[in-house]
Amino acid sequence: MEIIVLPTPAEVGELAARKVAQTIARKPAAVIGLATGSSPLAIYAELGALVRGGHLDASQVRGFALDEYVGIPEGHPQSYASVIKREVVEPLGLAPGSVLVPDGRAHDLEAACVQYEAAMRDAGGVDIQILGIGANGHIGFNEPTSSFASRTRIKTLAPQTRADNARFFDNPDEVPMHCVTQGLGTIMEARELLLVAQGGRKAAAIAAAAEGPVSSMCPGSILQFHPYATVIIDEVAAGQLTLTDYYRHTYANKPSWQRF
Ligand code: GLP
Repeated sequence: MEIIVLPTPAEVGELAARKVAQTIARKPAAVIGLATGSSPLAIYAELGALVRGGHLDASQVRGFALDEYVGIPEGHPQSYASVIKREVVEPLGLAPGSVLVPDGRAHDLEAACVQYEAAMRDAGGVDIQILGIGANGHIGFNEPTSSFASRTRIKTLAPQTRADNARFFDNPDEVPMHCVTQGLGTIMEARELLLVAQGGRKAAAIAAAAEGPVSSMCPGSILQFHPYATVIIDEVAAGQLTLTDYYRHTYANKPSWQRF
């Protein structure tokens, strides 16, 4: 796992966007895995700016969202379908229909999960999966003790996750209890993983994911098994890591052909 520690949250967004832009430049019809939550917003803003400035053409890009709430009305501003449309599809000028989000309102949710996996396979798999991490170490909505082999499925949100996400809703009771999320096994099939985190609330989860034992108690620790996982964080989110000086040293001496 490559761990890059940068001084500010803004620099995290900028560098992570550069990595995604490089993937698209190399493969214009790249398939991008899209996370919601606040962590990746700076990436999407930066990519949008690159597109508007004529430095990036994302018109052939396709995408798959990581997760969605179950039962949330489609047009609700906090449904992940709405968030992805507002934060990704529109600013990056992606083609309509080019991004799929799990269907949290399907009559047969289990069948919808199977179809979602099939759609990802038919698209040729994900080239780069953008990830945030929950304070309890979840990725997507794979809460602690999720199976490392799990596929897209229905999960019950942990009370902490519901409390953390209450800030997006008018009333905490409005936060859905269930979700559909890509599984850890699904996420691990992406050709590259790119996890970003900012701020002290993520410091323990980052330390557990990057330096702790690989354990389903911290789902993010599965990244240690991925051959191409990059973690870009700010100083504050790096606060509980023990090898930060080494990460700075490797980044400072990163070979030019590996830079992005
Ligand atoms: C959310 C999402 C995750 C996200 C995480 C952290 O609920 N399902 O994909 O990475 O929790 O959220 P945030 O980036 O807002 O801290």
